[in-house]
Amino acid sequence: MDMKERLEQIKAEAIRQIEASEKLERLNEIRVNYLGKKGELTAVLKGMKDVAAEERPRVGQMVNEAREEIEKRLENFKQKMERVALEARMKAEVIDVTLPARKNNVGHRHPNTIALEEVERIFIGMGYEVVEGPEIEKDYYNFEALNIPDGHPARDEQDTFYITSDILLRTQTSSTQVHEMEKGRLPIRMIAPGRVFRSDEVDATHSPSFHQIEGLVIDKNVTFSDLKGTLAEFAKELFGDKTRVKFRPHHFPFTEPSAEMDVSCFKCGGSGCRFCKGSGWIEILGCGMVHPRVLTMSGIDPEEYTGFAFGVGLERIALLKYEIDDMRLLYENDIRFLKQF
Ligand code: DAH
Repeated sequence: MDMKERLEQIKAEAIRQIEASEKLERLNEIRVNYLGKKGELTAVLKGMKDVAAEERPRVGQMVNEAREEIEKRLENFKQKMERVALEARMKAEVIDVTLPARKNNVGHRHPNTIALEEVERIFIGMGYEVVEGPEIEKDYYNFEALNIPDGHPARDEQDTFYITSDILLRTQTSSTQVHEMEKGRLPIRMIAPGRVFRSDEVDATHSPSFHQIEGLVIDKNVTFSDLKGTLAEFAKELFGDKTRVKFRPHHFPFTEPSAEMDVSCFKCGGSGCRFCKGSGWIEILGCGMVHPRVLTMSGIDPEEYTGFAFGVGLERIALLKYEIDDMRLLYENDIRFLKQF
């Protein structure tokens, strides 16, 4: 085969390979195979010594032409591949500016949490400590030490979930009072929020699990006036400056005297509306002076120390504050409801 034919063949094969290649890396391989130090065209140049001297310039020129042609094809094909790749990328990354923006969904605090933080803020501002007690309790802490002995009618009022005859799910956060008093660190100024349990049927105002906030103050010379002043201030902070309070005599086994506190209706100001069922007042919490027997059982001398306690339903506050009329809404975790707060 003469030199010219051979060169034509090499060139044609190189072009065929170039056009069949699918990746840029493949083009590089072809470049090396044909034009590289050990490539086919270089081999032809090396064989020049066998070519007659007068033929050499012509053959050299042919080799150069073949090299240039292959280089040109390589470059063209490379550009074509890059163009195709760029077009594909542009197509894939196209931004549709008419699409609606994606919303950043930020979480909301649960109404219970908002109400609790509000209550905590108020009492922390008055120098109270926030403490917690266990949800699973000994009968002693939930009843006995709160002056509710076996057989006391108050036990029936709080339908208790018993785990054993001696261990139960606390029915009231009042059990936390006992834990705090037992620590023996006086004076005490604490609130104790937490979950409580009663085997109640679910309805608009009842749930087998809800939350209370307990309050306890024990010091020398604490009187009922301190209780009234503190809780009146609490009501004002929570429901607004114009809020008035009223104490009605009541009975709790662990306080003596005991009372329930009403606040003037923050909706109508006390004149009577649908919200306060026409009475102008809304019942808000139970309270009283800690019973001397309760102090004694926890090792505090009632001759030296006195104190007051109170218990608030957290859900009740959340429902009132946000004018929600069904407690179940607080537990269903319906995002459409929760988003509003
Ligand atoms: N533990 C009571 C209840 O669950 C609420 C209560 C009333 C707590 C009076 C108190 C209090 O600390 O003094 O109904």
